[in-house]
Amino acid sequence: MTPQPHEIIHAHIYSAYTARCLQAVADLGIADHIDDDPVPVGELAAACGTDPDALHRVLRLLAAHDVFEQRHGGYAHTPASRLLRGDHPMSARPLARLMGLPLHWHSLAQLPHTVTTGEPGIDVLDPGGLWAYLQGHSEEAETFNRAMTSKAAADIPAIVEAYDFTPFATIADIGGGRGHLLRAVLDSVPAAKGVLFDQPSVIDPLSFPDQPRLTPRAGDFFSAVPAADAYILMHILHNWDDERVARILATVRDAAATGATLLVIENVLPDERPDPTALSMDVIMLALTRGHERTVGELSVLLEGAGFRLTGVTEASGSMRIAEAKAV
Ligand SMILES: C[S@@+](CC[C@H](N)C(=O)[O-])C[C@H]1O[C@@H](n2cnc3c(N)ncnc32)[C@H](O)[C@@H]1O
Repeated sequence: MTPQPHEIIHAHIYSAYTARCLQAVADLGIADHIDDDPVPVGELAAACGTDPDALHRVLRLLAAHDVFEQRHGGYAHTPASRLLRGDHPMSARPLARLMGLPLHWHSLAQLPHTVTTGEPGIDVLDPGGLWAYLQGHSEEAETFNRAMTSKAAADIPAIVEAYDFTPFATIADIGGGRGHLLRAVLDSVPAAKGVLFDQPSVIDPLSFPDQPRLTPRAGDFFSAVPAADAYILMHILHNWDDERVARILATVRDAAATGATLLVIENVLPDERPDPTALSMDVIMLALTRGHERTVGELSVLLEGAGFRLTGVTEASGSMRIAEAKAV
């Protein structure tokens, strides 16, 4: 049955509560106590140190959205709720926990201010913005880095499948976090070497004894990046406004020889009817950074301004695309 207009609006008005329930369940590790058979809510509550009635009401709401299934007086997993287990290879638990952090909820609470001024809400928490805030909050930074790895786990197989990395001898992943994508790329191209480049706070604790072809390098992508045949910028440019994007691209262009390849991997928006998840990401960028998701045309202009020519756009997974450019 087609929902009535007021039902559509009311569902959206209340939807923040559903998101918050999911984040709380992820935070409390509830999904790790459930497997194939339904677990009585009293047992779950005892195992997780929660109030049984409150837990039941939260899980019942999620079950109404196919996240958990209420069965035989208890809760069992659905394929979606299983992704909240910490041991799932594509676990979404770190991402759900990240979205539940005060940095998100405080920034979101400022949205009317953001819409009025164009200024991201996170500036209320730290005038230096997201990256400065994370530098000063190591626990939240740890959750952030875990979430990036977890989020990427869903996209990486499709990226490695969709794009041929074999022509490159050296591949640099700029702002590559803990190296999740670069590891997968190097596994698929045994002849290639990789340089993982990120901020010192991310890089310094890392080592890769099991992948000798991967070299971590700490630095600032506004100053200088290592030389390579191919550069990856995954979920980097969307964090920044056009002026900063131009600076990052200029730094990469300074390091790149003519003909080198640049791969921008993020939600590259189609001109018409973009996917709602990509648009949610765009508003997250609005609230949290000065960045935004861009269309192919917008990206092409920025690339050209920095001395690159867009040579192709490849679908990866969902709204994630790989925009390929060459240094000219
Ligand atoms: C949204 S995360 C993306 C991580 C990874 N590329 C991915 O897609 O999973 C952005 C990354 O940029 C890094 N970063 C932010 N500012 C940076 C800077 N000035 N220089 C180098 N890396 C930076 C962050 O530490 C973080 O790892």
